[in-house]
Amino acid sequence: MKFFIDTANLDQIRKAKEYNLIDGVTTNPTLFSRETGDWREIAAKICREVEGPVSLEVIGLEAEEMVSEAKELVKFGPNVVVKIPMTEQGLKAVNILSGLGIMTNVTLVFSPLQGLLAAKAGAAYVSPFVGRLDGLGQSGMELVEQLTTIFDNYDFSTQVLVASIRHPMHVLEAALIGADVATVPFSVIMSLVRHPMTDKGLQQFLDDWKKSQAK
Ligand code: E4P
Repeated sequence: MKFFIDTANLDQIRKAKEYNLIDGVTTNPTLFSRETGDWREIAAKICREVEGPVSLEVIGLEAEEMVSEAKELVKFGPNVVVKIPMTEQGLKAVNILSGLGIMTNVTLVFSPLQGLLAAKAGAAYVSPFVGRLDGLGQSGMELVEQLTTIFDNYDFSTQVLVASIRHPMHVLEAALIGADVATVPFSVIMSLVRHPMTDKGLQQFLDDWKKSQAK
């Protein structure tokens, strides 16, 4: 499973890169709104910092607006994937962009049939929002399973990009299902590393070593 980092924060991207865990980046308008500075400069830096795909989202709601924004966004780098909302106009834009060879990530996917439509329109990625579904008392991971099955059934090249991840269990379940990508917030990536038994075991080794050296 590929790991993307779900952030527009360059420090987080650089830190996560030190572990070579980052295969790409996803951003959205909310994530950019948390950063200071011109979003264009930040977006350009992210695209240079990371070799893998960087999702940048359009703001327009009409297909023509989305297409013209997408044409601007891809100027940030060859690794830009244009994030398009799962709407009627969005599907229209995805279809046009796929004809132009521009990769898209259809975002805000909450049902398997939305995902199927996005794949048929030519999306490179679809993003099921698991945490937000769980928050409604529905199963985000069931959606990931359904999308994975549908895309396998029909040999779609569209990748399932698990989004809105809240905790390590989401990452584990996505990997067990065989999702193509999980986009993970920095805090969750770091929590995957830690285990109290690792810390306890390490402390024990060091204590025993000290004792033996003091003899
Ligand atoms: C995915 O690409 C989105 O940026 C993301 O995962 C949003 O999820 P959240 O706002 O529910 O955390």
